[in-house]
Amino acid sequence: MKKIIFCLLLALFIAPVKANEGMWFLMHIERLNHVDMQKMGLQLTPEEIYSVNNSSLKDAIVQFGGGCTAEIISDKGLVLTNHHCGYGAIAELSDSENDYLNNGFWAQNHEEEMKPKNLSVRFFVRMDDVSERILNKVNADMTEDEREAAINRETAKIQEENNDDGKYTVSVKSFYNGNEFYYFVYEDYNDVRLVGTPPKSIGKFGGDTDNWEWPRHTGDFSLFRVYTDKDGNPAEYAEDNIPLDPKHHLPTSIKGFEEDDFAMILGYPGRTNRWMPAGGIEQNVNYAYPAWVEGSRTAMDVMEKYMSDDTQVNLDYASSYAGIANYWKNRQGMIDALKQHKTAKSKRKAERKFKRWAKKNEDGIYKNVIPTLNDYYKNTNEISRHDNYLSLLLRTRIATIPYRIGKTMDYFSEQNEAKQEELLPKIKEEIASLYNGLHLPLEKDLLAAQLQLYTDKAEDIAPLVAEIADENGNTIEAWTKYIDTSLDNSIFQSEEKLTKFIENPSIEVLEKDPLYLLSSDLLTRYRYKSDEQKEWDDEFKHAFRLMVKGMRLQNPDEKYYPDANSTLRLTYGKVISLPADKSNDAKDNYYTTLKGTIAKYQPGDDEFDMPKELVDLYEKKDFGQYADEDGYLPVNFLTDNDITGGNSGSPVLNGNGELIGIAFDGNIEAMAGDVIFDDELQRTISVDIRYVLFLIDKYAGATHIIDELTLVK
Ligand code: ARG
Repeated sequence: MKKIIFCLLLALFIAPVKANEGMWFLMHIERLNHVDMQKMGLQLTPEEIYSVNNSSLKDAIVQFGGGCTAEIISDKGLVLTNHHCGYGAIAELSDSENDYLNNGFWAQNHEEEMKPKNLSVRFFVRMDDVSERILNKVNADMTEDEREAAINRETAKIQEENNDDGKYTVSVKSFYNGNEFYYFVYEDYNDVRLVGTPPKSIGKFGGDTDNWEWPRHTGDFSLFRVYTDKDGNPAEYAEDNIPLDPKHHLPTSIKGFEEDDFAMILGYPGRTNRWMPAGGIEQNVNYAYPAWVEGSRTAMDVMEKYMSDDTQVNLDYASSYAGIANYWKNRQGMIDALKQHKTAKSKRKAERKFKRWAKKNEDGIYKNVIPTLNDYYKNTNEISRHDNYLSLLLRTRIATIPYRIGKTMDYFSEQNEAKQEELLPKIKEEIASLYNGLHLPLEKDLLAAQLQLYTDKAEDIAPLVAEIADENGNTIEAWTKYIDTSLDNSIFQSEEKLTKFIENPSIEVLEKDPLYLLSSDLLTRYRYKSDEQKEWDDEFKHAFRLMVKGMRLQNPDEKYYPDANSTLRLTYGKVISLPADKSNDAKDNYYTTLKGTIAKYQPGDDEFDMPKELVDLYEKKDFGQYADEDGYLPVNFLTDNDITGGNSGSPVLNGNGELIGIAFDGNIEAMAGDVIFDDELQRTISVDIRYVLFLIDKYAGATHIIDELTLVK
């Protein structure tokens, strides 16, 4: 008996802390996570991770280009992120003569570093809780509109108080669906230049076939540098700007790691929806995502046709194609995973429990929450299908340009000649950028295919579109003919025609333009909400807010973290395998090696080709100091960290806060992760930092970059 008790006690003490789920706020680490993290192998203090007054880890983490994460890895402002995060900038800097996307690029010195048009990084300065302050301004009698207005008024004050005379950007965001509020102070740097990138055959090795899959062999990284004015302040591009002298840069460890080693990730996860009710999951599985997948596939088919035999078209559309393809596969993966794991069913169970709790709760406000949410989804299933087809359609550039230019006409109708003169160059610039890299034959086909699909599959479509289809028939041929004729009679047929028009603008001409009419029909429909729908939306927001509040009250001892919403988070866990997979040549299924890359190598293939120099390095086993102690060259590895889109490019750190990898993907088996975290299956896929350095050093010969780093050996 004693023995049994002893064993039970022992089990209590050594039971593994299940801590992989959670995207935590840095300011809560000390209170909620630090003890746990130490048990798992963290050596840093909370202050070393997040400090407002002293330099800390957070000073080396940036939001990159709006949608990704990156890290500072040298004392000269060197920035490391994913290849797929630098993709748009690399493609933009390329042309068929200097094709850096396909051949790679390595600046030999600072002068050779290249400035893309729009690329900025955002540093995180500090955050704080303003829930009480904001919630004091609202009450239960307010309509949703009144509530929003009150919140906006207080938000404006908080921004004003914290922006330090415009030096900082301050963002106030809602968490737990309107139950808590925090503000975030940021500093933006707009002079960011490309330092180096491997060719696509390394940075995107495996292409869309391997995307979201494990085992993986992708060198998904690129290097940039932040520049400042001579006093170290953020500045617009100037030739004599100097490299940033950062508050902190990450040391880089090439010591390697093993399964079960502690691993944490700091970054900017974009969006999760872990409180999503069963009805929402069913709506996505049956209405929203199938439309998304179909619309994406339609776009990809047309784009592929034009991209495959023209290098310039390929470069011009590479980034937009990759973005569509990425979520085409992701959304299908979500449909499959949500069905397979019966996620809606397990959510429904939790909702029944909540309903019982709500009935007993003395505060009667929770009683109708679940039925209200269910009604909302029932009412909006068709709307969500419609909106998904339409939003994919609106990715067609030629569908939105007329409406956007039409908007600028307001300036001209003011009859203010001085103002017109001032605005004209700006609008011309906008026109030039809208038409830059626009390939009209591709756009026409794309628009025809999307209009046909939208008309065929969606209900309650844009009225003019419905009318045209009624008249001409809803076939791709009919749409092609319609668009051709429209373009012939349109000021939007070319940049030249449009520029000429804008020099001598006329509302009458615009309002008769067939492409403008189509474009505004689509965008007006996109923005339209019936009164009924507005009412549903308000009831939904209110009920969702109460559900989240109530569910937290229902389980008061649980530790909660808010859904991702593009704010800085930390997630911690460990290096860990997936069940063995024969297609992986590595000894354990938590890492891959260059040998496995070579096994996938298909000369000349669009996705699995490799540069000859890399194959040679493999054959000579010339891995330098980057080989693992077991002799292989590591390529990618797995951890159980909780990340999502937006975390791309995030640093994976060991217990000392040293860089061991760059997160770049998730695995298809756990694609339901954004609505429910799967303890068994959810993994982060990262590039091993030793592979990154090997490529910079041995493959590219850019040893001056290695010299810049703080290496831990
Ligand atoms: N799945 C990755 C993400 O969403 C993007 C990977 C890009 N690679 C690709 N083959 N499309 O972060």
